[in-house]
Amino acid sequence: MPDDTLPDDAVPDDALPAPADPGTVTVVLMGVSGAGKSTVADELVAATGWAFLEGDSLHPAASRALMTTGRPLDDPDRAPWLAAVAAWIGEQEDAGRNAVVTCSALRRRYRDVLRAGHPSVRFVHLAVPASALKRRLLARVGHFMPATLLASQIATLEPLQPDEPGVAVPGDRTPHQIAEAVLRLVAGRS
Ligand SMILES: Nc1ncnc2c1ncn2[C@@H]1O[C@H](COP(=O)(O)OP(=O)(O)OP(=O)(O)O)[C@@H](O)[C@H]1O
Ligand SMILES: [Mg+2]
Repeated sequence: MPDDTLPDDAVPDDALPAPADPGTVTVVLMGVSGAGKSTVADELVAATGWAFLEGDSLHPAASRALMTTGRPLDDPDRAPWLAAVAAWIGEQEDAGRNAVVTCSALRRRYRDVLRAGHPSVRFVHLAVPASALKRRLLARVGHFMPATLLASQIATLEPLQPDEPGVAVPGDRTPHQIAEAVLRLVAGRS
């Protein structure tokens, strides 16, 4: 018997409605420092014209100063920042805009803040071997994240869990290849 001939009372009372289709997608590029979040975001935004937020840009000045000294932020430091990033995501959803966000989002509880009430969010974890990360960070100039923070970032990273909306992609290909892979994933084609 096809589903559309089922009587109304065949649907259990406690059946949850499907989440509303947000109609847009927000790609949150996540991963440790040096994973290529900003670089891949540039590629994605150039290819799509989607709205873009460099998550780090919303850190209060005091937090940026702490990071410059090599001291990792603690969760109270991070809370207003995560809330600000989540609010930005909500603004894009409300405006019907697709978006790209860079945010390390290393812990599950940070990611939960970003996606709470925001069904457009798809996390893309840029996964890069530690040896390549070290090389990249040592070569990078003019950035406030010193390479000494890398070890603590790697220790902090909690990989995406099966119930989270997202996927890990290998981050050691060219930025263009990675951006293409992200767009294929978002479109549900691989
Ligand atoms: N796919 C890639 N292949 C080779 N080098 C890359 C790749 N992606 C980024 N890089 C280089 O690695 C360095 C770090 O990249 P990027 O600044 O994009 O990382 P990030 O994840 O944004 O780091 P942070 O969290 O510190 O902002 C840069 O010098 C960048 O040019
Ligand atoms: Mg960056």
